Amino acid sequence: MLSFCGKFGTCGMVQSRSSLCGVGLILLLCWSSLLIGCDSQVTHPDEVKALQSIRKALIDPNRNLSNWNKGDPCTSNWTGVLCFNHTMDDNYLHVRELQLFGLGLSGSLSPELGRLSYLDILDFMWNRISGSIPKEIGYISSLRLLLLNGNQLTGSLPDELGLLSNLNRIQIDENHISGPLPTSFANLSKAQHFHMNNNSISGQIPPELSRLPNLVHLLLDNNNVSGYLPPELSEMPSLLILQLDNNNFGGNSIPPSYGNMSHLLKLSLRNCSLQGTLPDFSNMHNLSYIDLSYNQLNGSLPSEKLSDNITTIDLSHNNFTGPIPTSFASLPLLQKLSLENNQLNGSVPSIIWQNRTLNATESLYLDLENNHLANISGTLFVPANVTVRLQGNPLCFNSNLVQLCGSQTQNIVVNRISISSNGSQCPPQACPIPYEYYASSPVPCVCAAPLLVGYRLKSPGFSDFQPYRDQFQEYLTTGLNINLSQLDVGSPQWQEARLRMYLRIYPAYIGPTNSSLFNKSEVLRIRTMFTGWNIPDSTIFGPYELLNFTLLDPYKDVIFSTSSPGISKGAIAGIVVGAIAGAVTLSAFVTLLILRLNSNRQQAISKRRHMSKISIKIDGVKEFTFQEVSAATRNFDVSCLVGQGGYGKVYRGVLADETVVAIKRALEGSLQGEREFLTEIELLSRLHHRNLVSLLGYCDDEGEQMLVYEYMPNGTLRDHISGKFKEPLSFAMRLRIALGSAKGILYLHTEADPPIFHRDIKASNILLDSRLTAKVADFGLSKLAPAPDFEGMVPSHVSTVVKGTPGYLDPEYFLTHKLTDKSDVYSLGVVFLELLTGMQPISHGKNIVREVNIAYRSGMLFSVIDDRMGSYPSECVEKFMTLALKCCQEETESRPSMTEVVRELESIWMMVPESDTKLVDSITTDPGKVVETTTSSSASSSAIAGMRHPYISSEVSGSDLVSGVVPTITPR
Ligand SMILES: *[C@@H]1O[C@H](CO)[C@@H](O)[C@H](O)[C@H]1NC(C)=O
Ligand SMILES: *[C@@H]1O[C@H](CO)[C@@H](O)[C@H](O)[C@H]1NC(C)=O
Ligand SMILES: *[C@@H]1O[C@H](CO)[C@@H](O)[C@H](O)[C@H]1NC(C)=O
Repeated sequence: MLSFCGKFGTCGMVQSRSSLCGVGLILLLCWSSLLIGCDSQVTHPDEVKALQSIRKALIDPNRNLSNWNKGDPCTSNWTGVLCFNHTMDDNYLHVRELQLFGLGLSGSLSPELGRLSYLDILDFMWNRISGSIPKEIGYISSLRLLLLNGNQLTGSLPDELGLLSNLNRIQIDENHISGPLPTSFANLSKAQHFHMNNNSISGQIPPELSRLPNLVHLLLDNNNVSGYLPPELSEMPSLLILQLDNNNFGGNSIPPSYGNMSHLLKLSLRNCSLQGTLPDFSNMHNLSYIDLSYNQLNGSLPSEKLSDNITTIDLSHNNFTGPIPTSFASLPLLQKLSLENNQLNGSVPSIIWQNRTLNATESLYLDLENNHLANISGTLFVPANVTVRLQGNPLCFNSNLVQLCGSQTQNIVVNRISISSNGSQCPPQACPIPYEYYASSPVPCVCAAPLLVGYRLKSPGFSDFQPYRDQFQEYLTTGLNINLSQLDVGSPQWQEARLRMYLRIYPAYIGPTNSSLFNKSEVLRIRTMFTGWNIPDSTIFGPYELLNFTLLDPYKDVIFSTSSPGISKGAIAGIVVGAIAGAVTLSAFVTLLILRLNSNRQQAISKRRHMSKISIKIDGVKEFTFQEVSAATRNFDVSCLVGQGGYGKVYRGVLADETVVAIKRALEGSLQGEREFLTEIELLSRLHHRNLVSLLGYCDDEGEQMLVYEYMPNGTLRDHISGKFKEPLSFAMRLRIALGSAKGILYLHTEADPPIFHRDIKASNILLDSRLTAKVADFGLSKLAPAPDFEGMVPSHVSTVVKGTPGYLDPEYFLTHKLTDKSDVYSLGVVFLELLTGMQPISHGKNIVREVNIAYRSGMLFSVIDDRMGSYPSECVEKFMTLALKCCQEETESRPSMTEVVRELESIWMMVPESDTKLVDSITTDPGKVVETTTSSSASSSAIAGMRHPYISSEVSGSDLVSGVVPTITPR
């Protein structure tokens, strides 16, 4: 009997996402469980109350927690609430994990968190939560992972956290926590990880922390810690990383006992106001990374032999004196030796770099600048992959050595570009979005949808990743229990001493008949590996940070349940309890529900239609009747049809006054179209700029909705680049188009109120009028908010959907979902590269940004310039190329603003020889000139327009045109 109950008692957890038949099934199951007198499982009421208070204290602008008021937390899939899947002794379900990372939450942390007394993981990483850390968290004795990093928390660390006897990991880094590190933390006997960097923690490091038997990582860098360095820390039996950079130990010295930490891997005390001499390193057998730079350390450099595992020695910017010891010479893994800005004298032992044999992935960087070094002992030859910097030493007065003394620009090459050859033999872009070819697929040209993971090594034990790349892939795939070929590490980037990467994890290839998708449980398993820190620690790679875990469309509803509209499972349970009736009544009930839902939907649609009628009485745009539009397009004759998309069709039309226009006709009843219709009219009617396509009017008549635009006889920029037009564009013309496009976008960014981010800048959205003036089109389409569901709720997950076109998509936006003006800068940069090279953003599996970067860095930039351009001023081309690549930097901050882009283009324009610019002016001021197309001889005039109609590029597929709604990715 009991086991029978148990079986049916879980009915509330049965997943029913979309099918109402499923609802019926649940009702029947619950009904049977009622008949046999068995309670269905529910969350403990204290925890339900606690969650409600937690929700109340938070601000949730993206409505990610909108399902937190429906049904039971554990059985109705509240976002981020994970429960034990069985009841405890008290016959209740309990919350095991609160996983609310990266949801854009602000507000504060409720003290009620303390009531979640079975909690294992508390995860609020990467939100904007402020206020202090409630001391009540200290009462959750089961808590293992406390993850609060990346918020705006203030106040001090509560002593009560020291009560967390099961705590393994505390991450509070990147907040504004102040006050001292509580001595009570010395009681966290299970703790392995203290990650507290980038706060304002002050006071002395409690010597009592040395009692912590399991602490592996102590990261307290970038705080206001002061006092002395407790010598006792050397007694910590498990400590591998001690990272305290950018604190102020006011002239104290490094305790000599630290030289006894034979297991320590990394000692980083950069910029800590330390004085005195170095400890004896000869017992630090495992040391791989030491950074003591920017202190006032003195005395001589270590002459004893350092650990064979050492990769990085940074003792620069101190007061060290004496010679450079030859003990630096036989370090087999050395990557970086920085001794610059000291008072070292004597000769430079060239044996340091000559004794090393470097393989292709290894490099060695030696910086000895600004010392008192008088000469070099040994030969002067510097092998490839070795950089030696000697400027600012007396030896540079010796004319034999000048080549080592120049202000060398060659630097440690950390981000070598690796070109993945895979995919280049595959048909271009044959994978439907968001699938993509994956580089190390055992079978070529397999399309798969990856999981995207923003990942950062927090404190790696090296300064050049390249030699460790293979080992890293091995480590991570083993840890995740996936095949080596399933992981793509991309091009990691250093951020200070951290290494950020965008991981792509592909489903395993099983065979040609299987779809290349992860199943749900595998997605959850992999996610849990990351979010639960279940990947075993590595020594050399150190701790990792999880920045985001992005699910593309096929996986979307795995984590955040797309709530079956209007009816939650909790509500169903309530209905069942209330309804004492037979199965017949129940099925009638289901039917009723279906009818209700449908009629709600009808109401919603008609309501929206009604509203749209009212709100589009907008000044400045003409209202056309259906009859006028119909006449202009010869009753929508197919010969006038110039394009088609998910929302409807585009026609070329001639109005009664002979004005040629483009008419966009929304599909009847297409909600998508309706919303776009409104947005576009509202936006366009407010925006007027020479470099934006202008809206002439609209038609909202006889149930039809249409937009009327100025017609662009010269088609899209893409058509011109791809050579559809007979006459190739000159360099000056291209620059002019670039400048026009940039000005149009700048207007959107700075003049529009509120500012508009276009989100879908691409060559096929830049149209050319009769004078070849660039006009940006299709803005507004991608600015849309998600459609409200039946209850008027806006589905939360849509707001994080990445929109754009493969090849143009800002990689940072793609991974962080943070849209900024710089996302448009990136896309425009790609257009610039197309203008310069004539290439497609992605062709044959190659990405234009990567290809041009390779050419540029190897000094071959002119080899990729479009030769159809004819002769060009090379200085201008180079400057334009430099600007384009700057726009395409992976990191948002490194890209110029649109204002800077316009300014730079204008200054390049000034450099173009007058003879070239004059020619452009003659075209752009002659209103009659229409550039001929190569197809013009073989097609009727309206068909030609079809090749280059003003609104839709012929390359864009119908589904693409639902624009924005399809999350797209940059195949690599
Ligand atoms: C931490 O603080 C330092 C110094 O203020 C800063 O340079 C660094 O970017 C910060 N790191 C992070 C991850 O915020
Ligand atoms: C290092 O450890 C040894 C043995 O435990 C001890 O005798 C010595 O004093 C320690 N050195 C320092 C500088 O603390
Ligand atoms: C060096 O590193 C390797 C691999 O990380 C490790 O096995 C070894 O114990 C370390 N120590 C020494 C002295 O080689």
